[in-house]
Amino acid sequence: MRSNNIRRLLQTFQALADLGPEMTADRDFPQRARSMLALLMEAVAAQEAALFTFTDKPAMLSSVAAQGFALFAEPAVIPLLPKHVHALSSARMPQAVNAKSCETLFSSNGNVAPELFKCVAPLKVGSRLVGAVTLGRREGDALYAEEEFEALHLLSQYVALAVHNHTLSQSLQQRVSENLRLLASLHNFYDQTLEAFATAIDVKDTHTRGHSLRVGRYASAIGAGLGLDETQVSGLRAAGFLHDIGKVTVDKALFNKPAALRPEEFREMADHTIIGHQIVSGVQFPWKGIAEVVRWHHERSDGSGYPDHLSHDEVSEPVRIVALADTFDAMTSERSYRQSMSLGAALNEIVKLTPKLYDPNVVQAMLVQVRRDAVGRGKPNFLEDAGLCTIAPADIDQMAAALSHKVNHGRVYSA
Ligand SMILES: [Fe+2]
Repeated sequence: MRSNNIRRLLQTFQALADLGPEMTADRDFPQRARSMLALLMEAVAAQEAALFTFTDKPAMLSSVAAQGFALFAEPAVIPLLPKHVHALSSARMPQAVNAKSCETLFSSNGNVAPELFKCVAPLKVGSRLVGAVTLGRREGDALYAEEEFEALHLLSQYVALAVHNHTLSQSLQQRVSENLRLLASLHNFYDQTLEAFATAIDVKDTHTRGHSLRVGRYASAIGAGLGLDETQVSGLRAAGFLHDIGKVTVDKALFNKPAALRPEEFREMADHTIIGHQIVSGVQFPWKGIAEVVRWHHERSDGSGYPDHLSHDEVSEPVRIVALADTFDAMTSERSYRQSMSLGAALNEIVKLTPKLYDPNVVQAMLVQVRRDAVGRGKPNFLEDAGLCTIAPADIDQMAAALSHKVNHGRVYSA
């Protein structure tokens, strides 16, 4: 029974992760809504206007932008009865609002008086109602004429798509979070289940297949190298598996772009930390700190990371561990815009950037674990495959010595 539930939830989750690219997340929606409304007002010379989104359970319109009205609650909310939903959904064109049609189109139970509106353009995608644009007075109290209705009709189709896109992206986040919550409530959060989540997160990016799984592996091995207890180590594995969960809402095209990202594309990609944090913060995990890792795994010791520009002391050790595990995997994997680095080159680079960007203790623990693989007794400890360990133990010792020399500023301590 439980495994059936898990399977069903995972299927939904994978479908959602797949759908993500079609629902390009729209993080600045309120700002975009304001500029769309301003454009629309200019096109029809309106002095007052508001943009609403529609939700059907319960049926209501909620404002996302409003301009020009002297008295207007923000957000303004208008509950709708079935007859109002029907009237708005079946309108083919924008409608004039007068004393008679006002009652058919809106209820007066909300916190805004529908009598303020002179015209309404229902926003529809196909036959589905997604919102509405309402216009108030025009300059000199002129009435809206046929040509304004036509202009409004044309523009409102674009606005409808933008509103719909935004609603989908919101519900995607909610549903991913809901699935995680349900899974967490199924008594035990199985490693296997988390692995399936990790696989689903990476599904969009052909170059980083297995990235989240490897980050979980590296992070837990580093934790073990630091002497953390079993629960902390499995928490690190889970955090590694889920650190990029916010990527389910990032446009797929960005992952496989063979060139550097444009600034706005970079911002969308960088926002996976904030979106991911929103997704997991409502979930009760059996381990502490998962949400912190999801939000802060791109922070760096000198404060040069994102999204909050925190420095070394401001983030917890698990965050610093996953940050390093993530960097290490990024360096040693091929990307659409560059070749992968060798193991030795990646470790050298990390040592070079420590302590500026990374925690020296965490880096030392990683070197200890890689060294165990380099010595090569038994199954690999850190890397996925013993054959991947293309470095001699002596070279790792040299790096470890260089790092400790650098961190201790060349001072020699004696007992
Ligand atoms: Fe990330």
